Amino acid sequence: MGFVEYRPSELATKDPYYLLTSLVVPRPIAWVSTVSGDGVPNLAPHSYFNVISSDPPIVHFTSTGVKDTLTNCRATGEFVVNFVGRDLVEEMNVTAANFPPTESEWEWAGLASERSSLVAPHRVARAKAAFECKVSDIVSKGNGNMVFGDVLVMYVDESVLRDGRVDPRLLHPVGRMGGATYTDAAAELFDLKRPSYQDILDSRQ
Ligand SMILES: Cc1cc2nc3c(=O)[nH]c(=O)nc-3n(C[C@H](O)[C@H](O)[C@H](O)COP(=O)(O)O)c2cc1C
Repeated sequence: MGFVEYRPSELATKDPYYLLTSLVVPRPIAWVSTVSGDGVPNLAPHSYFNVISSDPPIVHFTSTGVKDTLTNCRATGEFVVNFVGRDLVEEMNVTAANFPPTESEWEWAGLASERSSLVAPHRVARAKAAFECKVSDIVSKGNGNMVFGDVLVMYVDESVLRDGRVDPRLLHPVGRMGGATYTDAAAELFDLKRPSYQDILDSRQ
């Protein structure tokens, strides 16, 4: 068995997408809550999501093309990232349907919301954690529009904390694999202590 070498420029348009999204895995899911310029609440999952900076805390997610979430971020400059646990996957999936901008995904998914402290978009009441964010930048590359957010407030439900730290066994974070496949990241956990250079030298003696 050898390697297959793919050149994105020679592939059909959708193929790099399948390779990227089945290899860059598992991806965390930002379940992004926004409000439109007209005040319509919106909620949609984004697995192109990660941390940019911890001091100060900055996150980003990417809208592929122009979707309601992006339009709302441009209009209002605010969003809330809700974290998706194993217990919320069905509701999260409903909110990924292509609702028209006038429809609120919250109602279709049967989700209750909680007011945020500093921003207008609400958070998902049942989400075990959420970040309130203020848009700092929107950068477009290819078909992606990256929305950067300064994290103003971090909510964590006490039920997922152990000794003051988030315990993945309690959070059951869900990661997206390729296509319609997901992983419960708490299903198999292992610890790996990071060595110092000295540890490695000592272990070779
Ligand atoms: C788990 C999951 C992850 C997704 N990740 C993204 C993403 O990172 N970027 C994106 O543009 N769409 C993503 N989608 C698709 C959007 O959620 C979908 O297009 C949604 O309808 C957009 O809603 P909006 O128009 O209200 O923003 C994802 C869908 C699912 C189910």
